[in-house]
Amino acid sequence: MEESVKIEAEGISEEAEEKVRENEENPVLSVRNLHTSFFTDSGEVKAVNGVSFNLKKGKILGIVGESGSGKSVTAYSIMQILADTGRVVEGEILYNGKNVLKFNKKEMHAFRGDKCSIIFQDPMTSLNPTFTIGSQINEAIMLHTDRKTRKAATARSIELLEMVGVNEPEKRISQYPHELSGGMRQRVMIAMALACEPDILIADEPTTALDVTIQAQILELMKSLQEKMGMAIILVTHDLGVIAYMCDEIIVMYGGRVCERGTADDIFYRPCHEYTKGLLRSIPNIENMKERLVPIAGSPINLLNLPKGCAFCARCDNAMKICLEEVPPEMEMPDGHFASCWLNVKKAAEQEQAEKQAGAAAVKAGADTTAAKADEKTGEAEV
Ligand SMILES: Nc1ncnc2c1ncn2[C@@H]1O[C@H](COP(=O)(O)OP(=O)(O)O)[C@@H](O)[C@H]1O
Ligand code: SF4
Ligand SMILES: [Mg+2]
Repeated sequence: MEESVKIEAEGISEEAEEKVRENEENPVLSVRNLHTSFFTDSGEVKAVNGVSFNLKKGKILGIVGESGSGKSVTAYSIMQILADTGRVVEGEILYNGKNVLKFNKKEMHAFRGDKCSIIFQDPMTSLNPTFTIGSQINEAIMLHTDRKTRKAATARSIELLEMVGVNEPEKRISQYPHELSGGMRQRVMIAMALACEPDILIADEPTTALDVTIQAQILELMKSLQEKMGMAIILVTHDLGVIAYMCDEIIVMYGGRVCERGTADDIFYRPCHEYTKGLLRSIPNIENMKERLVPIAGSPINLLNLPKGCAFCARCDNAMKICLEEVPPEMEMPDGHFASCWLNVKKAAEQEQAEKQAGAAAVKAGADTTAAKADEKTGEAEV
């Protein structure tokens, strides 16, 4: 893992320390230094390069970044559903402390079906057009729960469809996917993903294909289900706006690396990475409603030939020489969140220097006063 540097600044509050402690406690999933590559005819595509994060029990973690930043590959690495050319080349994925990458076939099958579910952007790619909704949910239920009869499974399917807000579930179970709207199909996918009552639900751009109103309804549904069922969710999206109110924690990815990770408040109110700041400038909010939104200029990096230093360097207005040469270390900010940007290292060094100078000046001032007092005393004695 890249070195974690702590800013030795005074005033790290107890609240921040508590938050850091809490962040490290009891993750249901811990991804450590994940590297995933695709071995193609053109060479090794380094899609994920040292990603680390913790997913806490019953919490929602957002993974955000523009298209191609490695979000889905991170998710697929956890589920072990990479394309044939893809492989995790380094790192650990710990589910309740056990390394998923070391699971045998049976353990992996159990993990994928019972403990961790995934829903994709386009439900049509996951739903089989030739089977009814009911038979597809039933199959998931019979495979992954102890409801082994069709009757018991159907009763549960109806319950699940009701839970995800599908109207007339008794009628829907005998319909085919194409007979439902996009929003309804996504609800069916969520019902299927919940069939096994997973500990972790991964939602990969679950609302990108839907219009804005339906998008909000599906997000609302996921949040309420999470509260009801207590599972942990990884919500993958390219849209920072989508996760603003959903997520307990957010990681921002660029070029297959984590730029910044922290709470939604950290990311939205105290961003410490130039890429995050750029993303924030590109989403509409109350303050910039009247201004023109600023998309981040430049094109994404070539993952076949990763730059030596910071992946964002070519597009960063504040890049320095060191950014070209070395990957920025992940550094803990005074509020307890983490960012990987050389500007923070520079700021911390300048602060340390300023403190040293202030300390030296104080010592000198103290020495001068003592000398002056000594002079006074000597003068008095001479009189
Ligand atoms: N099957 C594949 N073969 C080769 N490269 C791939 C494959 N899948 C993904 N990649 C590479 O990984 C990068 C990250 O992909 P992905 O995780 O899907 O991005 P996103 O952040 O949009 O979800 C892509 O830009 C692509 O270069
Ligand atoms: S490390 Fe350098 S190039 Fe990268 S975001 Fe920070 S300032 Fe910009
Ligand atoms: Mg994706």
